Amino acid sequence: MQKIAVVGSLNMDCVIETPAMPKAGETIAGRSVAQVPGGKGANQAYAIAKLGGDVQMIGAVGTDSCGIILKKNLECVGVRTEGLAVLEGESTGQAFITVDDQGENSIIIIAGTNGLVSKEMIEENRHLIEESDIVIMQLEIPLEVVEYVKELAIELGKLVIVDPAPAVEGIPDHFWKGIDFIKPNETELAILAGQEKNGLEDLKEGAEQMLNKGVKNVLVSMGGEGCLLVNKKEARFFPAHKVKPVDTTAAGDCFTAGFALALSQGKTCEEAIAFGQKASAIAVTRKGAQTSIPTIEEVESC
Ligand code: RIB
Repeated sequence: MQKIAVVGSLNMDCVIETPAMPKAGETIAGRSVAQVPGGKGANQAYAIAKLGGDVQMIGAVGTDSCGIILKKNLECVGVRTEGLAVLEGESTGQAFITVDDQGENSIIIIAGTNGLVSKEMIEENRHLIEESDIVIMQLEIPLEVVEYVKELAIELGKLVIVDPAPAVEGIPDHFWKGIDFIKPNETELAILAGQEKNGLEDLKEGAEQMLNKGVKNVLVSMGGEGCLLVNKKEARFFPAHKVKPVDTTAAGDCFTAGFALALSQGKTCEEAIAFGQKASAIAVTRKGAQTSIPTIEEVESC
């Protein structure tokens, strides 16, 4: 089995369950509030380890209680944390998440130590990237650090997967060059490609724009519908397993993790997509981020 390095964010999620999302200027009564380990990078690393992969987390937390809990939670499932900096006196990243009765969420993140991940930290952990075969990143750490890791990983001949979330406008074209897979959702792809609509044809066109910027494969996650793989050879739709969503938080992270894990085990791209879809179909039926990640036995019997 190949080794995977996840370079990215860790957040303590503050999750509010609410019957509906509040409108601007509106006050509504929520149902519950809970703290759950999250962060796109940490969710992906956690899921890879829980599903049986060999994974290293590179990122940063603070010495506050959230940082200690997040690090321990990763270690509990076997994530290697040698590359995880614990920064004295700094506050760990946080996410404030509202989940409505349809299982849809909206998220506000406060970067904390995720914003302090630097090129110097990457250099200190260069050996961990060198010994990995697959490198996964998201956009919750500084963009210039993500690009630095991407360049390094490409130079070292690694397979590079980027989950471009949170998506922002104006990312320079050179950022995308040479990435093996990006996995935006429909909203993220529309932002990255500067589109207003996202019907299937718009998604294909948006994905082709990303291919023209130098990405090799675009995997668009389309929520409960499925996902779309677009590369220079084909545009192929993979329907999702039909489930009743309870909370979609980290479903994309679980998909990315399952996809990368399956590739690390020598599966084809199609098989890896199918595995990621099964894992995320289970995750959406459970509450929270890392709390929703299934075991390998659960995915295999799905
Ligand atoms: O993808 C879900 C994650 O996004 C949450 O766990 C939250 O921390 C934010 O990073």
